Amino acid sequence: GGAATASAHDGHHRHKAPRTLQDAAARTGRDIGAATTVVHMGEAAYRATLDREFNQLTPENEMKWETTEPAPGQFDFAPADELVRHAKKERMRVHGHVLVWHSQLAPWVNEITDRDELLKVMRRHIAKVAGHYRGQLRSWDVVNEAFDDSPQAARRATIFQNVIGEEYLEEAFKAARKADRKAELCYNDYNIDGINPKSDAVYAMVKDFKRRGVPIDCVGMQGHLILGQVPSDIRQNMERFARLGVNVYVTELDIRMPTPPTPEKLAAQAADYTKVVSACVAVRRCRGVTLWGVTDKYSWVPDFFPGEGAALVFDENYAKKPAYFASLAALK
Ligand code: XIL
Repeated sequence: GGAATASAHDGHHRHKAPRTLQDAAARTGRDIGAATTVVHMGEAAYRATLDREFNQLTPENEMKWETTEPAPGQFDFAPADELVRHAKKERMRVHGHVLVWHSQLAPWVNEITDRDELLKVMRRHIAKVAGHYRGQLRSWDVVNEAFDDSPQAARRATIFQNVIGEEYLEEAFKAARKADRKAELCYNDYNIDGINPKSDAVYAMVKDFKRRGVPIDCVGMQGHLILGQVPSDIRQNMERFARLGVNVYVTELDIRMPTPPTPEKLAAQAADYTKVVSACVAVRRCRGVTLWGVTDKYSWVPDFFPGEGAALVFDENYAKKPAYFASLAALK
């Protein structure tokens, strides 16, 4: 009940302005999240920024196969448990990332050549990991990046596709539903933010899953975007997925620029953030936006895209960037 008190003190309307991203997001019934890692949870400013601004977190690496099942049948939930415990304490929702993905996969999985064996291994992995967190997660990325970047947006030639065949995808979703009936089950990918051949392929898959009763509840658009290149049809793309009866999330938003940042680039980035966040707010079925990191200090971008960075809304000193204020305004 801070509003009445503030009103008595202020005597004007500005007290109603939300002061944090999570205040603003909560008023629209949405989640605003950040990819979070145990590696930096000991840093006071990191934790304070996370707790103050966000009502949702996604483990940045801790739920990936190489971490959760490094050897066959040997599961390690300690790092991810730490994040889930923190989220619970702070009343933040958790998005699970990720059950089936070709990257950051335990190397032993890539050695499997027998179809029945890999299917068994995949189902056991999902049963154990999603089962461990049953009832505690908002949602799961069940499968990540299953389509390639060819003009046909073909199924990516991963170990799962090559050895099991394209049915691995629906088998993964069925196993996830069995393990956790509460979590929303998402398909997640990059370069599916706008309407293009790859998002067309995902759209066709979701439509087919819905028609055949394969359990799927949401589509995650990663949103790893480039300054000045935000697709103009994000909202239309979200709307077409929503019409299929799935929720939509922006799961890994960052908007990178050539470093160093300048006032001009930061202003352009703010405008780009407005485009993405306001697209989500305009679509009833877009339920949340997750930034891929709390601060530019620890973003994955400079490591993976040399010469680029400054992609998030807090700078390396945890100061609010123009993109922060743009996102806050877009959430209202
Ligand atoms: C990245 C992490 O941010 C890095 O720390 C890690 O070294 C590599 O993976 N798409 C995804 C995420 O789905 O899991 C990736 O995260 C970024 C691209």
